[in-house]
Amino acid sequence: MMNQTIPVTSLSGPPVSRWFGFFSEFRHDSLDFLLRCQTYGEVVKLPMGQMAEIIFRHSDLAMYFLNHPDDVKHVLVTNQQNYTKSQVPPGEARVFGKGVIHTEGETHHHQRRLFLPFFHGDHVTSYAGLITEKAAALATRWHHGATVDIGREMIQLTLSIMWRLLFGREVNSDATQVAEAIMAGHRLHLEQYSSALAWIMPLWVPTTRRREFSRGQDFVDAKIRSYIQSRRAAPLESQDLLALLLAATDEAGQPLSDQEIRDELSTFLIAGQDPTASALTWIWFLLSQSQTVRAGLAHELETVLGNRLPTAADVPRLVYTKMIWDESLRLYPPAWLLHARKSRAEDRLPSGVLLPAGSRVFLSPWSMHRNPRWFPDPTRFDPDRFSPEAKEARPVFSYLPFGGGGRRCVGESFAEMEGLLVLATMASKVRLRLVDGQTILPDPLMTLKPKVPVHMTIESVGTPERHPTTA
Ligand code: HEM
Repeated sequence: MMNQTIPVTSLSGPPVSRWFGFFSEFRHDSLDFLLRCQTYGEVVKLPMGQMAEIIFRHSDLAMYFLNHPDDVKHVLVTNQQNYTKSQVPPGEARVFGKGVIHTEGETHHHQRRLFLPFFHGDHVTSYAGLITEKAAALATRWHHGATVDIGREMIQLTLSIMWRLLFGREVNSDATQVAEAIMAGHRLHLEQYSSALAWIMPLWVPTTRRREFSRGQDFVDAKIRSYIQSRRAAPLESQDLLALLLAATDEAGQPLSDQEIRDELSTFLIAGQDPTASALTWIWFLLSQSQTVRAGLAHELETVLGNRLPTAADVPRLVYTKMIWDESLRLYPPAWLLHARKSRAEDRLPSGVLLPAGSRVFLSPWSMHRNPRWFPDPTRFDPDRFSPEAKEARPVFSYLPFGGGGRRCVGESFAEMEGLLVLATMASKVRLRLVDGQTILPDPLMTLKPKVPVHMTIESVGTPERHPTTA
């Protein structure tokens, strides 16, 4: 891309506080802040401020925000061995422990080798029936004219699917407490990523956030541990993730301890359920905004499915449904910011920027997906952006809802199948209309969620649309 080598000292960035660095601006409005960063060049310098320099005993601390897909590809794929995930705050360490999302090196490779077959091919498609059955049951329970909080409904639906995938059980009456524990995790996560002080503050400091977080985690941990113990006491022939972990060994050939199994299950519970719920919530909202897209979807469902429920074999034929899924993940990527990376050694990016060893690097699907250079008129909802020709015309890493390289989402195939089957099953039965008077804006929690509950009115398919949108 660039022959010239650019030292980080010559990089520019938005004005930031001398003491608190970019954290103050970032906390104020992370999403807008990231979009503003697009105007400062392909690599943007974000000083962390003198407070962080004192805490971490390091001068000129900064993060580097990457705006160009080639640089992103370099960090995630081409030279990925030079980058580790940077340290996480105590809340995140408690949730994920030594689960696959935070380990490095040989341990991480070993864990991925264990999980990849579970999340691919026939094993994934064997869950199709469960997904459509649960989605159809939900759509059938809803009455024409009733109003629902669609975010909450999608959380309950994806949680009940994930609980079966992980533990082979129904979540039943625990669903509300588990969902609340996940939300408490979101709130603490946001706080910890918004200030250097909150970042280092241990979990035992009795703030309201830390207390509600610990209560929620204790509840989920107790459930997971009781499932592990009862399965050890009475082994079961089962296809779930718990069974996989109980039969697995670590790199040294030793069976996994209860703690290691807990860490993996807790990781998959959060990493697997929450982004899928957010993705589906945004899809229903976006669909409610475009009659043209709704008509295209209805036509495809009628043609491919007629009156029957979709199966795994239908998924490749749901071409337009997949374009809607892709475009929704572009506009509202649940993983709006990837985990920050830290360079082991000095590294020259394709843009020419020479990152010193120990540099912290920021990569944001949210910002990349809304860069007009790759997606003209970026706020417009337009599934045609994902036609094969349109995709071909863009650099691959201009679109990265599932990350990339050796840390690309392990559950991508499962998430996609789940998303498409839920959408196809439910949209064959119901339309969801946004209740008037709501302004729906994104909230950058651990995943990107709507700031307020999204209330939608249910209309049975086949009834006339009450307030057709013109888009
Ligand atoms: C729409 C739904 C989903 C989205 C948008 C999503 C997105 C992502 C992204 C962007 C990453 C990489 C993070 C980084 O590099 O910093 C990731 C990693 C991961 N995801 Fe997903 N994910 C989704 C669903 C799932 C599901 C259904 C599962 C499993 C059931 C899952 C399990 C994981 C795990 C375990 C990792 C860590 C992989 C590693 O570090 O090796 N995800 N996901």
